[in-house]
Amino acid sequence: MATVPDIESVKKEITSYSLDSEENIESFRLKYLSRKGIITEMLAGIGKAAPEERARLGQELNALKKMADARFKEAKKRLEGGAASQKSAADDPTLPPAPTPVGSSHPLSQTLEEIKTIFYRLGFTIADGPELEDDFHNFTALNFPPEHPARDMQDTFFIRKDENNPENDLVLRTHTSPVQIRLMKEQKPPVRAIMPGRVYRNESITAKSYCLFHQVEGLYVDKNVNLADLKHTLITFSELLFGKNMKYRIRPSFFPFTEPSLEMDIWWQTGNRPGQWMEILGAGMVHPNVLKAVDVDPETWTGFAFGMGVERITMSRYEIDDIRLLYDNDLRFLNQFP
Ligand code: DAH
Repeated sequence: MATVPDIESVKKEITSYSLDSEENIESFRLKYLSRKGIITEMLAGIGKAAPEERARLGQELNALKKMADARFKEAKKRLEGGAASQKSAADDPTLPPAPTPVGSSHPLSQTLEEIKTIFYRLGFTIADGPELEDDFHNFTALNFPPEHPARDMQDTFFIRKDENNPENDLVLRTHTSPVQIRLMKEQKPPVRAIMPGRVYRNESITAKSYCLFHQVEGLYVDKNVNLADLKHTLITFSELLFGKNMKYRIRPSFFPFTEPSLEMDIWWQTGNRPGQWMEILGAGMVHPNVLKAVDVDPETWTGFAFGMGVERITMSRYEIDDIRLLYDNDLRFLNQFP
């Protein structure tokens, strides 16, 4: 038995052999697995063992060989994997840097930018006001008398509701029209401004309506401003934004703060459904009571106003068929607007 080395001690050696470098792995292979390696020699030595020992020895040596082989293969794989990942992060200073993902502006912001640019060209300045409004600016000064059913036209999110005195109510503004009031309190006519901003409505969510959206308010107060000026401005704006071939219609409507009032629809066509009219703005001649609320004499000054929905305009421009897509922040959607 002297020719057969002790299997147990070889096994221990194999399990504790450090396989952390290419050189170590190679010397492991040479020492145990090569044709001149220990295990091969041990296997060759079986013939010299006592006949009744041979079968058991054969089994044990084969198990030992398998184990060494498994360790060797595993170590080699580990080393190659590490090398591959090192290579991809290779310190090669001549390689161009990996591309960094860049964001783009949201389709709503893109539309808003274009709307602002167009009105800037038409001679309008830009103003803004708070999203948390009081009852006076959101309703009363805009000629919504207390208890007037017109207040129900816009389902309001109340932040503070005083049943005894509505003047104390605080609301999330339901439209950008209160900015007209704030602006005219500060700046007397002539005034020609747009007022973009976010507004809130407590109404059911559908493909065309969301609980928050954006409006661009417009106000032009001067001497002798008339309805023809309003129509001309709206049509010029729409043609600049949508192109000369846009299909639109203007209908009479009602708002407490304008008289007469109108609404403008544009033809909304997407690949997925039949075309239909979609209202994009309300407008009208500023009601004398609104001018009086800000101490502007309606005998001297007249004006027009409008308020347009940025979401709906965006949906029409980009053939988006559900407003909620604009609020999901789904990159698969957003990446379509570079
Ligand atoms: N504030 C109205 C709304 O949100 C839209 C509107 C209509 C604004 C007529 C105006 C206007 O300035 O003149 O439904």
